[in-house]
Parts: sequence; structure tokens; C-alpha cells
Amino acid sequence: MNHLIAPSILAADFANLQRDIEMINNSEADWVHVDIMDGMFVPNISFGFPVVAATKRHATKPLDVHLMIVDPDRYLKAFKDAGANGITVHYEACPHLHRTVQAIKELGCRAGVALNPHTPVALLEDIIADLDMVLIMSVNPGFGGQKFIANTYKKLNDLKVLSEKKNPGLFIEVDGGVDQNNVKELLQAGANVLVAGSSVFSSAIPADAIYNLKHP
Ligand code: DX5
Ligand code: ZN
Repeated sequence: MNHLIAPSILAADFANLQRDIEMINNSEADWVHVDIMDGMFVPNISFGFPVVAATKRHATKPLDVHLMIVDPDRYLKAFKDAGANGITVHYEACPHLHRTVQAIKELGCRAGVALNPHTPVALLEDIIADLDMVLIMSVNPGFGGQKFIANTYKKLNDLKVLSEKKNPGLFIEVDGGVDQNNVKELLQAGANVLVAGSSVFSSAIPADAIYNLKHP
């Protein structure tokens, strides 16, 4: 599978969101990564439904919604209605993960599960066959612009091995501190979807930064 690029609008200029979404539309990006933070699961609050719906009105690419919230079951339908194409929930936020995953699929969305840096891939053994995507957090969720955690490579390797056994078509997404310097190593370790926030939006020409991630 050719790898996909999902720029995170967390690092966009919210006062010029339409401009930044149009940049993504006209770039080689594949998805738009949308980070939802509730100030409970993570120590930061990002934005909610109106911003997701506004993004949807302008985006020509699928919305990849990453829920960093407690009790995501309460809001799955609202995120679908706001325009989510894929919904990723955190393993650490879902005591009944199987039920949550089925609920996402019943809405017609791609179902993803995210793992915090301390959560081992092996915990997914009995759910991985039901998933469309696993998101490996390469920073502690909550903020853009953090330093990449090197143990991520080992986790991507673990996940690749598990997915080859149980779910060969799995999207393996990596999120946090992704830039031009680690892209090759991430792809080699097994990632096939790269999220990038600050490395795209702090670049002088964001569309070129996306191009460089797509063609490392
Ligand atoms: C972090 C978010 C990320 C964030 C990545 O909690 O899940 O998607 O936007 O930002 P960078 O690429 O700046 O690390
Ligand atoms: Zn994210």
C-alpha cells in the first residue's frame, strides 16, 4: 500500500481555516486529521462539532477524526453527523472497546483505535481483526509540536507483525513529531499513514512539506 499523509489542522491558523483547508485540498495530502481534545482525557481543549462541520464544508478529502476524549461512545454519532469519515478512539478511554468499535462501524465510519506511548500493541490481539486502523501515538496526546518518542519504532514493528498475522489490510497510523527527518524510518518500521501538524504548518510552503512526506 502506498502510504497516506494526514495533515493535522490542530496546527492550522484557526482564523484562516478555510485557507489552510484549501491548501490541503490542493496538496498531495490524502486525509485531513482532526484532533478533538476534551480537557479530561488530555490536559488540553482543542475544538468541537462546529469546527468539524465547518472543516467538512470546505474539505475535499476524508476527515480522519482522532478523539482524545473520555467516554467517546456518547459522541460518535455527533462526530459522524459533523462529517467524520473515520473515527479513532483511545484504547485507554474505552472499557468496552469491542462495543465502541462496532458502534463506529455501524455508523459507516472507518474504525480506529489509538494507543498512548505506554500502552503495548499486544493488548490489541483480540480486537485487531475488527479494526480498520491502529494509531500509534509517538508523543503523549494533548499538544502539537512535541518531541517524537523513539520507542515508537519498536511499537510499529510489533504492530506490523500482528497485522500481518491477523489483519493485513490494516491502516497503521503514526501521530506526533512526524517530520522529514523520521519519515523514512517510520515507513520502514511499518507505518502507512503519517499524521503531521507542526512540520507541515510551520513550514514556509506547507504544500511542499506535504509533498516531501509523500515522496521521501
Ligand atoms: C497530538 C495530536 C496530534 C498533533 C500532532 O495530541 O494527536 O495529531 O496534531 O502534532 P505534531 O505533528 O505537531 O506533533
Ligand atoms: Zn491526532
